[in-house]
Amino acid sequence: MIMSPYAPVGAPLPAPEPSEAYLKRLSNRRSTPAQTIGAPGPGEDQIARIISVAARTPDHGKLAPWRFVILGAAAKARIAAELEPMAPDPKGVAVLAKLRASPVCVMVVATPVESQKIPQWEQELSAGAVCMNLLHAADALGFGANWITDWYAYEPAATALFGVKAGERIAGFIHLGTPAAPPLERDRPDLSALISRLD
Ligand SMILES: Cc1cc2nc3c(=O)[nH]c(=O)nc-3n(C[C@H](O)[C@H](O)[C@H](O)COP(=O)(O)O)c2cc1C
Repeated sequence: MIMSPYAPVGAPLPAPEPSEAYLKRLSNRRSTPAQTIGAPGPGEDQIARIISVAARTPDHGKLAPWRFVILGAAAKARIAAELEPMAPDPKGVAVLAKLRASPVCVMVVATPVESQKIPQWEQELSAGAVCMNLLHAADALGFGANWITDWYAYEPAATALFGVKAGERIAGFIHLGTPAAPPLERDRPDLSALISRLD
């Protein structure tokens, strides 16, 4: 059972302050390919901390339209074996290596509700933000992480094996553990082509 680690509502929080170390870390974070994430993974207390940071995510309407499922190594191996015969093709079988490799994975499930005020799109965006926050929190604790989906995040018979219910969607599997090798930079978009300005 993970207890709420947050300050009471209305309690003063530290104001933002410049931190070159924080900015440098954000500027250098990289995903670790899931098949290269090994032991050790985060312990129970560290997983709780990672999730508590991840859930501290903007959420229009305070609906908390997401939930977390911690998948240990045994559960991942069991479900991967059940998924194998369901794979659409040999590549679909091969990618199950990504599901098996990590010591632990946090599955983020988007749980949007019918709302007159908050579009489903915004609720799902919040679930995506939760996934990104998981990556940042894992990074801050010194773990490698990868956000993946693959075919079994979309196939209803497959998602049922993870306990996903009608109306829910898998936002991501966030694999957590120790990188086999230090990260290398990947190609990045040309920012000048992506940024414009209206004055
Ligand atoms: C929504 C989403 C789904 C993804 N699905 C997959 C996937 O199915 N398989 C995969 O290998 N990587 C998947 N990725 C991970 C990326 O391919 C890759 O690890 C990441 O973009 C690396 O960027 P970074 O190093 O800047 O974090 C997914 C990422 C996102 C955001």
